[in-house]
Amino acid sequence: MTTSFAAPVRNPASDPEKSQSSSKQAATEQSLLFALPKGRLAQDSLSFLEKAGLSIPTDTASRKLVLPAADGSIGFVMAKPRDVPTYVEHGAADLGICGLDVVRETDRAVYEPLLLPFGHCRLSVAGPADRTTVQSGENVDSADLSVRTSLSSHLPETPLRYMSQPRVATEFPRLTRRFFADRGVNAEIITLGGSVELGPILGLSDLIVDVVQTGATLRMNGLVEIRTILESQAVLVVNRTSYQLKSSEINRIIERMRILTD
Ligand code: PRP
Repeated sequence: MTTSFAAPVRNPASDPEKSQSSSKQAATEQSLLFALPKGRLAQDSLSFLEKAGLSIPTDTASRKLVLPAADGSIGFVMAKPRDVPTYVEHGAADLGICGLDVVRETDRAVYEPLLLPFGHCRLSVAGPADRTTVQSGENVDSADLSVRTSLSSHLPETPLRYMSQPRVATEFPRLTRRFFADRGVNAEIITLGGSVELGPILGLSDLIVDVVQTGATLRMNGLVEIRTILESQAVLVVNRTSYQLKSSEINRIIERMRILTD
């Protein structure tokens, strides 16, 4: 993790790129650049910003990745969710919205001034319904016995007897490794880029660690949730240097958002 930051370098006049030059120039003329996640958090993020009174881009269905707000006040970058903390840490964007799960996994040096009221989900361990061993009693450490999955009250509060060296497929290798290591379990972590539910189905892994929102994907693939590793929701992230250099603009945005979270 880095602890010092260069101020964002944005000099559209010297950018020779042809394909995106106009949108890049338009966005970089704004004093603030906001990174938003593409995908399932995109619409909720835009709606939330609009409710907070920020001007958002008019053409959000566009394939353009860099978009100016309708009133020209802010530039927006539509980024892969996992890249949002990276852009913000390095000052390529001043602010961003992404899931807390992604912030914890990527472990980037960013400020997190505000949890946002959408994108609620959890990062959970899951396994095949017909093979997962959920027993009380044996070989269980006391920390596991006390785990209650607060968003999964339908799950019995029973301990998991981990197999000695489970193979675990996940898009979250860092959090997964730590979860099992903290329990003294020598798990083999298999990192995938998506659809990790395929792991147990294809015999690639014994367990998965993945995002659960409604639980429908697990059910449809014959998997059951075993433990919650992390409760997640959307979070505002801010570049540390931008927060110092552009404090009045950024604080104005934070305060507008905070009103909606109280
Ligand atoms: C996420 C996650 C699960 C699914 C969970 O996948 O990885 O597959 O959503 O949602 P549910 O509990 O509501 O069914 P996403 O659609 O983001 O794509 P991915 O599998 O490529 O990560």
